[in-house]
Amino acid sequence: MSALPKSCEESSEFPTQLRGGLPLFGTDAETALDAVQGRLHTGCPPERNLATFLTTTIEPEAQRLYSAYLNHNLVDREQYPEVDALLRECVRIIGEMWHADTSRVVGSATTGSSESALLAGASLLRGWQERTGDALSSPNLVMGAGAHACWKRFCKHWGVEPRVAPASTEGTTLGPESVEKLCDERTIGVVGILGSTLDGRYEPIAEIAEELDRIEQRSGIDVPLHVDAASGGFIAPFLDPERLWDFSVPRVVSINASGHKSGMVPPGLGWLLWRDRSRRRPELGIRVNYLGGDDAHYELTFSRSAAPVVLQYYNFVRFGFTGFRAVHARCRSLARELASRLRATGRLRLLGDGSDLPVVAVTAQPPIGLRDLAKHLAERGWSAPVYALPPHLEDVEVMRIVVRNDLTSVDVDDIATAVEEFIASAN
Ligand SMILES: Cc1ncc(COP(=O)(O)O)c(C=O)c1O
Repeated sequence: MSALPKSCEESSEFPTQLRGGLPLFGTDAETALDAVQGRLHTGCPPERNLATFLTTTIEPEAQRLYSAYLNHNLVDREQYPEVDALLRECVRIIGEMWHADTSRVVGSATTGSSESALLAGASLLRGWQERTGDALSSPNLVMGAGAHACWKRFCKHWGVEPRVAPASTEGTTLGPESVEKLCDERTIGVVGILGSTLDGRYEPIAEIAEELDRIEQRSGIDVPLHVDAASGGFIAPFLDPERLWDFSVPRVVSINASGHKSGMVPPGLGWLLWRDRSRRRPELGIRVNYLGGDDAHYELTFSRSAAPVVLQYYNFVRFGFTGFRAVHARCRSLARELASRLRATGRLRLLGDGSDLPVVAVTAQPPIGLRDLAKHLAERGWSAPVYALPPHLEDVEVMRIVVRNDLTSVDVDDIATAVEEFIASAN
């Protein structure tokens, strides 16, 4: 059925670019589709974008669910209690994966880890204000040089000083020594990353927590730890069960992850879980009753589609524990294979070798130029970003390749071969 009365459609010639602003008349749906598709067919297809951590494939069955729930408003719990039930079940399942006490854990579905970070940061800030009363001002948040920009955004908007451990030749990872140096009575929390956007490496969460325990024993300052597991939150539980990084570490008060990264949901979904209600500061909840319900909402946004949450639940049903483990084990194994081929060229230094996140990050010395390598890969249809490391290492350029589940061993071989060809021609 057309969304427009016929009189508003103008089915004759239609411009594909709306340079003159909103046209007076619209057109029929088929013409509109062609016009828009004509504008969109030029960029890099997401599956060839080696930069992105985001899910780039969706199976037809998931697509059907997605379409069916696209027009359901996630916040409208009263109208769509069945969606709300799935959301709560997702929080419980993720809480279990992260070794929370499922009778106490609470959580929110957000639009992505960036929103989760803003909310987690706000909760840490409130907690610190409550602990210290009005006695102190100038709060700070401690993080490593590899922390994602969303944490600096939180600091900027909430008036918190970002205390960033300087990068060094060892890399951008936050270690216990920096935590010891940077934390004081104004520290609202420490953010540990599992793993880094820049090189895919996990930060040593358990060691950071031990350092914070020592600080508390020594000085009485109790600094909570948040884990930004944007990508690792849906990888470590399956591939690194021995690793201590989640709610099994008592100091960890909250954890975020992106459902739309290794949770394998299309863009638009993040998760934020708090150990218990006391860590999710009640001041952050907003009560609205005009949609019918009277529950507090713990998000920074309001209306949005329920489809990503429905798809997260679909993925839990579809893959189960062994399915998630198989998908991520395959990505890690392909990433390691790619890393060892790049290392074998003798001209690339590995910052990330796929052992933590399935990310291969390399640097190069002249005469090998990473930007030229990126151009060579682009000729083969692969887009791979080159970027500078944070301050203190800003002269170091890095190329990062994320091995997602839609890359095959043939693709990885093609990428490695292209790199080998480039190095051979530059030698
Ligand atoms: C460690 C880390 N934190 C936060 C983010 C932001 O996540 P999102 O894109 O889901 O907002 C990213 C994105 O890559 C990330 O790698």
